[in-house]
Amino acid sequence: MDKEILGSYIKAGKVAAQVRKEGLKKLAIPDTSFLEVMDYCEKRIIELKGQIAWAQLAVNEVAAHYCPEEDDTSVSKEGQLIKIDVGVHINGYIADTAATVEVGSSKQYKDYITAAQNALKAAMKLARPGTPLYQLGEAQISEAEALGFTTVKNLSGHTLNQYKVHGGTSIPAYNNKDKRELQDNEVIAIEPFVTNGTGLIKERNPATIFMVEQLRSSRSLYGKKILESVKSQNGLPFTTRWLTRTLGKTPTLLGLKQLQQERIIQAYPPLVEVSKGMVAQFENSMIVKDTPIVYTKEED
Ligand code: CO
Repeated sequence: MDKEILGSYIKAGKVAAQVRKEGLKKLAIPDTSFLEVMDYCEKRIIELKGQIAWAQLAVNEVAAHYCPEEDDTSVSKEGQLIKIDVGVHINGYIADTAATVEVGSSKQYKDYITAAQNALKAAMKLARPGTPLYQLGEAQISEAEALGFTTVKNLSGHTLNQYKVHGGTSIPAYNNKDKRELQDNEVIAIEPFVTNGTGLIKERNPATIFMVEQLRSSRSLYGKKILESVKSQNGLPFTTRWLTRTLGKTPTLLGLKQLQQERIIQAYPPLVEVSKGMVAQFENSMIVKDTPIVYTKEED
């Protein structure tokens, strides 16, 4: 891998790991505003000289894809199981990382957290050239099952490409029989979601996260304004409150609607476990090598 690209991944990873840690620490305290923490995380990414890919969180049975709106008054509550998912990039080279914490002092979800950590660790060890994808999945689900849980089957890890969150190859969280092998220097994110539920998620509207799917010009004035203001994301996600704070609420809602109808953007609504099972998740990004480079690892 090109030295400069490798350097970008490593720098992005350091920032992402730091922001993930700081964000999680705040969320662990009851009565912390979700909105404030997400704003804080974005501010920190910039302060640490990264570029924002995203900062998201998800509570209890919500597995992923929640961003607070500008007037969201939700706060963390004792006993909630909260996931934070941080994406940082340097010139499009992305670090994608997530972690889970239980709010307050109760420890009722300790096993969920351990199981998700174990699942990630087991798969990370296999992130070498030649490992078939199904084995990464098998490793994750067996760690989940060892503690009485399962993994969410319709969520998976993924390859990372420049300015592309999903590079095209999925890393399964169970044995899906995919015999394709990991390639040397491939950049991947592994992200087991562990649950006591059925092990499937579905979408729940409304969405606050979007991505430009196909960059074309919009016929709508508000649509044009939105595309202009998310241009710098270069295809990476954007969230509603970035827009409402500058364009106002009504223009944003109308513009987003129009852009979806024109199939220029796609919505990514919150993902909820179908049986309302609790969900814990951990995620690291790594470069596949005989000794994998896990570049979002927490520094000791
Ligand atoms: Co990911």
